[in-house]
Amino acid sequence: MWKGRLAILAILVVSLICGLSMFAVRGASNDQLEVYSWWTGPGEEEGLAAMAKSFEGGNPGVRFVNAAVSGGAGSNAKAILASRLLANDPPDSYQRHAGLELLDDVRSGKVQDLSDMYQQQGWTKVFPKGLVNNLTIDGKIYAVPVNIHRANLMWYTPKTLRELGLSGPPKTWAEFLQQAEVIKAKGKVALALGPEWTQKHLLETVLLGELGADRYDQLWAGQMSWMSPDVGAALATYAKVLAVSDVKSAAGDWQPQLDRVVSGSAVYAVMGDWSSSYLEQTKGLHWQDGYNAAASPGSDGVYDFLSDTFTLPTGARRPDLSRKWLIECGSTDGQNLFNPLKGSIPARTDADAGLYKDYLGWALQQWRDPKVRIVGSLTHGVVANNAYNAEIDSALGLFVQDGDQGKFARTVEQQFRETQ
Ligand code: GAL
Repeated sequence: MWKGRLAILAILVVSLICGLSMFAVRGASNDQLEVYSWWTGPGEEEGLAAMAKSFEGGNPGVRFVNAAVSGGAGSNAKAILASRLLANDPPDSYQRHAGLELLDDVRSGKVQDLSDMYQQQGWTKVFPKGLVNNLTIDGKIYAVPVNIHRANLMWYTPKTLRELGLSGPPKTWAEFLQQAEVIKAKGKVALALGPEWTQKHLLETVLLGELGADRYDQLWAGQMSWMSPDVGAALATYAKVLAVSDVKSAAGDWQPQLDRVVSGSAVYAVMGDWSSSYLEQTKGLHWQDGYNAAASPGSDGVYDFLSDTFTLPTGARRPDLSRKWLIECGSTDGQNLFNPLKGSIPARTDADAGLYKDYLGWALQQWRDPKVRIVGSLTHGVVANNAYNAEIDSALGLFVQDGDQGKFARTVEQQFRETQ
């Protein structure tokens, strides 16, 4: 008899403990918001931290859990996110780029339609139409943009150019290759590179500079062949550019890649304009005298854009909090807090231009200039879907190793057809 009572008591105690711990877990997840991105480290995390603080301030008792995974361009974060989404364990909001990068999530039902929020917040009127188109699939809008970045930039220090007797950054890739000879003769490296994604970033800017904006667009739309003589010539230029870079001893990520330019061991780096935040805030350099940037060779007057956005995942634990976060991301206040620190310009067209000075002032002026042509980034999600982008990664990895340009062009051409 007493044994039976003891068993019942034990069951009660265990259930109570389980209940309490369940309550504890639920309690924790109930008042916290897990936001997933790849913004860690200098030049990446400051803008997010400012928005997180503002979010917590506006939602007393709610904890912002920063689930960022390091690695530029999401090189690690995207893979880990994929496994979480597969396991139906999404964060409460995650970073994606505007453009075709969103397509898989939408098709597989991983993200929720935010069209109602766009109506409530009046966002269709304050975000550029072209940007909203890049967030819309089958008539529904799936993400909230925090910023606009520019990919086609070449960074340098005026000091190094002066020391080498170079009058300015190259306007074409042919001029860059001429400068590279002078640079080599003086014992420096012409171009600093980082991991594979930075090599793809370089490829897109060489294609843009050599083909021009129209044919660059046609290439991603499948209206121009990778086997065409023009693309062949651009790929040959890319191979020459690689040959005068430090690709064989490439840096671990984009910050150390830029460090080589800052130290003067390398002269140029092609990188997006998140560089400006790193160079200003971490390296303490000033625009135009300490560091400078020009459109990457051959792409003056073109804005190779990308945009960081946040989503509302299906199965988010607290969709009400996720929505509040998204409102913060899309709000004027949120964008004004985030962008000057992140080194990007606001996605909103009504943000306060006075907050964007130095490099960012120039970026904003270029973005808003109707004469400047806008194209989308390959490396940062705009113009190619994930499957195609992954195939380009594999083929490019081989091309960089073996220099077999013909094989690269054939593979990418075929993969375009197979991944649409
Ligand atoms: C891009 C992202 C930027 C910046 C960069 C380097 O893909 O859109 O915001 O973080 O990677 O990590």
